[in-house]
Amino acid sequence: MLLPAGLEPLEGRAEVRCGGLDASRSQVLATVSGAEAVVTDPTVTVDPELLDAAGSQLKVVANFAVGYDNVDLDACRRRGIAVTNTPDVLTNATAELALALTLAAARLLGDAERDLRSGLWKGWDPAAYRGVELSGATVGVVGMGRIGGRYAELLSGFDVRLLYASRARKPELEARLGASATGLEELLRRADVVSLHLPATPRTRHLIDAAALELIGERGVLVNTARGSLVDLGALAEALREGRLGAAGLDVYEDEPRVPPELLEAPRAVLSPHIGSATVKARDAMARTVAANVIAVLDGREPPNRVV
Ligand code: DGY
Repeated sequence: MLLPAGLEPLEGRAEVRCGGLDASRSQVLATVSGAEAVVTDPTVTVDPELLDAAGSQLKVVANFAVGYDNVDLDACRRRGIAVTNTPDVLTNATAELALALTLAAARLLGDAERDLRSGLWKGWDPAAYRGVELSGATVGVVGMGRIGGRYAELLSGFDVRLLYASRARKPELEARLGASATGLEELLRRADVVSLHLPATPRTRHLIDAAALELIGERGVLVNTARGSLVDLGALAEALREGRLGAAGLDVYEDEPRVPPELLEAPRAVLSPHIGSATVKARDAMARTVAANVIAVLDGREPPNRVV
């Protein structure tokens, strides 16, 4: 599905066929049949089956997302099909949601709001809902790419100590924000808040497992706005239930839209439905970026955001 901001630039340049978000796989395969450009999003698996269904005239898969773990890049590469994404335009929106979840989880807002709505709140209580104060805390950013970097910048108003674990050192961020590079294990051990900003790959699957949660510990807060597969949700729900993890703020889940029932029931968790980039500004810009990538390829030009 493409928003009006992305459909407008395509008007008069292409015949657009839209499949709904609730389309079945066979409807998706029928929709892409004969297309030169296919617009996908994280809910659509782009694999050889879909590429076959589209046909040999397919020139570009334009993903409506910065992440592209839903796309079989090798299969596209082998067939000479370009793959594009929507970087940059959603960086700030996603970092802001990570900050929102950080504060909400650290201050136990999920439990507090649920109690109030369900009539369990009995009045002011000095011992209730005592969360982690962000100022003075140590925050660990795992993956210091565009979104991780923006999250670190947004945190600079909070007087936090910043650690980061990333493939590459970021000397500019170290100098500007006072961030210190560490290994992952040290980060998990030292940080009061751990925020994940990595892509989903076979190597990052369940990076945060039971052992990692043990390192974050009973006062630690875990935030994930990246991809659900980074966290073993069963282990997370258990750690929350048993008081071995302080709190969690999650926007993404391994098998969306399914959220494990044990996580829905776990205490001290704030859960949002994959809305990292869901601002009017970011989503419209993403839609325009998708259109620009499609038009470039159809015009025989290099697309602005080629992944493959
Ligand atoms: C992305 O762009 O990868 C997001 O997860 C979609 O909002």
